Amino acid sequence: MAEQRARRRPSEQSGAEVSEAQIAVHWQEEAYFAPAKEFIAQANLTDKGVFKRFSLDKFPGYFKEFAELLDWYKKWDKIFDGTNPPFWRWFVGGRINACYNCVDRHLARHKNKTALHFVPEPEHEAIQHLTYQELYVRVNEFAALLRDFCGLKAGDRVTLHMPMVAELPITMLACARLGVIHSQVFSGFSGKACADRASDSESRVMITMDAYYRGGKLLDHKEKADIAVTEAAKDNHKVDKVLVWQRYPGKYSSPTKLVEGRDFVVNDLLPKYRGKRIEPVRMPAEAPLFLMYTSGTTGRPKGAQHSIGGYLAYVTWTSKYIQDIHPEDVYWCMADIGWITGHSYIVYGPLALAASSVVFEGVPTHPDAGRPWRIAEELDVNIFHTSPTAIRALRKEGPEEPAKYHYRFKHMTTVGEPIEPEVWKWYHKMVGKKQAVIVDTWWQTETGGFLCSTVPGIHKMKPGSAGPAIPGIHPVIYDEEGSELKAGSGKAGNICIRNPWPGIMQTIWKDPDRFVHQYYSRYCRNRKSKDWRDWPYMAGDGAVQAKDGYYRILGRIDDVINVAGHRLGTKEIESAALLVPEVVEAAVVPVADPIKGKVPDLYVALKPGLDASEEIAKKVSASVVSQIGAIARPRQVIIVPDMPKTRSGKIMRRVLAAISNRQDPGDVSTLANPEIVDKIRTAHG
Ligand code: PRX
Repeated sequence: MAEQRARRRPSEQSGAEVSEAQIAVHWQEEAYFAPAKEFIAQANLTDKGVFKRFSLDKFPGYFKEFAELLDWYKKWDKIFDGTNPPFWRWFVGGRINACYNCVDRHLARHKNKTALHFVPEPEHEAIQHLTYQELYVRVNEFAALLRDFCGLKAGDRVTLHMPMVAELPITMLACARLGVIHSQVFSGFSGKACADRASDSESRVMITMDAYYRGGKLLDHKEKADIAVTEAAKDNHKVDKVLVWQRYPGKYSSPTKLVEGRDFVVNDLLPKYRGKRIEPVRMPAEAPLFLMYTSGTTGRPKGAQHSIGGYLAYVTWTSKYIQDIHPEDVYWCMADIGWITGHSYIVYGPLALAASSVVFEGVPTHPDAGRPWRIAEELDVNIFHTSPTAIRALRKEGPEEPAKYHYRFKHMTTVGEPIEPEVWKWYHKMVGKKQAVIVDTWWQTETGGFLCSTVPGIHKMKPGSAGPAIPGIHPVIYDEEGSELKAGSGKAGNICIRNPWPGIMQTIWKDPDRFVHQYYSRYCRNRKSKDWRDWPYMAGDGAVQAKDGYYRILGRIDDVINVAGHRLGTKEIESAALLVPEVVEAAVVPVADPIKGKVPDLYVALKPGLDASEEIAKKVSASVVSQIGAIARPRQVIIVPDMPKTRSGKIMRRVLAAISNRQDPGDVSTLANPEIVDKIRTAHG
């Protein structure tokens, strides 16, 4: 209990508190930076009146402006239905197709314009430029294959385990055209992680690619599909078909054999569907568009379910007004489509606005830290979007590189984790050449799109702060007891959003109870209430609001670690460690890292009588990689004689986190085994 309380209190800043919020870097107030006049002159949104128009008392009517950016087969009857909190329904009665909005509707005016620039990692390979017309053709042909060869229809789920190639958005859009729900799993995740998601979503079809480039190597990716199918079968889930795209059409690039009758090479099947056109399915606005699995506080990742109408309206509006995308812009978001950032701000938002969106296969610092700037120069990218982790890595490896290239960004984004003001300033000065406006966008897998950010043509920027809420979003910060902190108090608490919005996930796939519990139960004023005002959304982040209304996000208040801007559940990592037979206890803690923001340190205790060894530590690390993926690989596996425990036997992670972060663990006298602390410190080294 004592531990629970301690871990949940972001407002207490003693060295002994160790949620991510507590160990976040704390910086002083920063001076503002003003957006360039040239930017403001062309910005999509400069009217300050927007905040009045989008004030809370006008909820939900103002969200009509979001939906009006889209083409509807049938207009909605009702903007918002809140009769069954917190299962909100948006644009009820409307009929729409996401693929139509991202592709077909642009053909009349933009068919010869590039929709996707695919940039292969090997620099000698030509960049592929796909026009909207070509995208239309390829999406239609693949949709025909999905429908006629795989028998997929609206409402079916399909698991994608695809790398950063043009075929990924093609696959997503083909699914969307049919009303098929896609569930893309980050390609860096392991076969086992893919299996968990395929089986939870009951996908009969899995779509993958034979191989892809990463860090100069052509990685075998097909082998993960074999593991995924085998592992899913152990979970009593059968995958009938595996569709394999070829990284090099016409050539199979994987050493892993195809399984007869189960695996099919897409590029071999496609000629049969040449010239086929599939009428987009007129879907209800509230039908799901996709699932995106994300880590939470408990065991397995959960499938955040996003709707077609609400989600698409939300990402389109935010792409237009926060990303400031115009149809003539060349927009590059360097995230991976396997995460929500890529879904919302590489694929759906930019394409709904007829922009040219860049899909980059590789690692930003490969072969050197000049690569992104060469790409920007080559493609004349003018909007750039990336994470603090990538910015830190590029700054470390090539601080002077951007100056060598003749690109010019009007707008840049940072997303996924807090950015240190010093890093922000380098991004502004060197990457943005002091001309680009920067938005620091705070949001989550669950929220579909941005929640807090400056409006680039209106607000000044403040390094390290996400900014105020975007128009239409009304945050509130609560303390532990559920009392509201005064606006602009500068005190840390738990950030929540008072009102629903169209981009919010609809539920957790197959687990509505967990959805209610995780996001709403803590601050719900009355569980029986049918009034949305009683159901604030709890984001799970600690935050402070400064006097100027800007929010600074401190980090997670739960058992989620944000590594390089990607979410990992401590429970997932610990469960993977416990699969090693020698291990009896495991505890994972976040450690501050100069590049990745946070990395996991993994403490394990062994069965009695076993001695610590390098070999066991390696086995533990390997288990984490095979269960989840290389992204979760612990910085260190520390074998300890015992865990620090409360009298009731709970592992005190805060003590471990303090040791890993070389902080004072504070008062440990209440532990059942205080003497262990020094021994652990010695084991940690
Ligand atoms: O802790 C916050 C952090 O990333 C979490 C969401 O992670 P995920 O669902 O993977 O989505 C990442 C892309 C939006 C949040 O709970 N986070 C996200 N953006 C920021 C951030 N922390 C600080 N500043 C941000 N701009």
